[in-house]
Amino acid sequence: MRSYLKTTAIALALTTAAGSAQADAHGGVEVLHWWTSGGEAAALNVLKEDLEGQGIGWTDMPVAGGGGEQAMTVLRARVTAGNAPTAVQGLGFDIIDWAKQGSLADLNAVAAAEGWDDVIPAALQQFAKVDGKWVSAPVNVHSTNWVWANKAVLEANGIAEPTSWEEFTAALEKLKAAGVTPIAHGGQAWQDATVFDGVAMSVLGPDGYKAAFIDLDEEVLGGGAMKEAFDRMAVIRDNVDENFSGRDWNLATAMVINGEAGFQMMGDWAKGEFLNAGKVPGQDFLCFRFPGTAEQVTFNADQFMMFDQGGSVSDEQAALATAILSPSFQSAFNVVKGSVPARTDVSDAAFDDCGKKGMADLAAAASSGNLFGSMAHGHANPASVKNAIYDVVTAHFNGEYDSETAVAELVDAVSIAK
Ligand code: GAL
Repeated sequence: MRSYLKTTAIALALTTAAGSAQADAHGGVEVLHWWTSGGEAAALNVLKEDLEGQGIGWTDMPVAGGGGEQAMTVLRARVTAGNAPTAVQGLGFDIIDWAKQGSLADLNAVAAAEGWDDVIPAALQQFAKVDGKWVSAPVNVHSTNWVWANKAVLEANGIAEPTSWEEFTAALEKLKAAGVTPIAHGGQAWQDATVFDGVAMSVLGPDGYKAAFIDLDEEVLGGGAMKEAFDRMAVIRDNVDENFSGRDWNLATAMVINGEAGFQMMGDWAKGEFLNAGKVPGQDFLCFRFPGTAEQVTFNADQFMMFDQGGSVSDEQAALATAILSPSFQSAFNVVKGSVPARTDVSDAAFDDCGKKGMADLAAAASSGNLFGSMAHGHANPASVKNAIYDVVTAHFNGEYDSETAVAELVDAVSIAK
């Protein structure tokens, strides 16, 4: 599967050389991204239309695959071929890596003119500004420690919003007894890791999460609380349907939307799918933090890295960056995407209840020291460490390791990768 995806991705990369030349010839932008689900595409359209309204052409370069692993494979092939796209969706440490390799254009002039230093939160600046140079434009702030629930399914089974692990497992039991799939999940490494973000935070607490995934402290990675986190992952594994393997995240969301499943643990891009299906928060679906993580936020922020096209930042790249950070775009886009603004000065008036909660949670977590980069989405460590953790989490989820073995493997894998 993996090698098939890679081959397809690279074949795609090679056939897009023509697309890029076309973008240049027309003075537009070529944008590489992985926003291909219904909700994601609807959000991306807001940006596309904004630019087209300014007369800037858009060459779309979508590479399907949640979490962006396939998109990053295509990107590497394009850069190696000397044919980098104009703008590329990127996450956390990947952005820093590209900047350190000297591949990204300098956006300091745009950032200064638009006052980015004052309005973009520090947590995002650490991934957008490298060695004093702005290299990418933050689009949003997502977070991973959310649960999405079908309200009617919960009500029909006498389930209130669970606030602890015990209440959550009791709810899973009820759903199972009623013949409903308790948890909609797609067995892909990044999705397993996304679930693990919330589960680990709930067991380890904020200090333990930071020690394990950001500081890579071997004692915490290999400790008793980590074993407990894996035990909880095994409980979750017992509550997914038998066809979970390889399923795309948005198809798992659809199971909750359709009432086939009760819950999904997924970042708030899942909300984009509910909205795209015409569902209303509080009425059709519920959003709440993974039980035991009410105060914490494990964030990932999508950004558009501007690849150096030879010379200084192009007018189109500057226009794209300016459009992305404009307050009106930040509101319009994030309302549709499920994320919250990448600026601190945008009103929550246009956001639904989940969006308002997302904005309030982010601000509260930032000021109480409870805001952490998501391990699953490349905001805790570079890709080598992230992938090492993915491998262990997925092997355990698929029953290859018991919890004790998983903990030992985690310590080993991280120490080799770091
Ligand atoms: C994340 C990205 C989100 C969403 C998700 C699923 O990595 O930050 O914007 O697109 O993948 O594709």
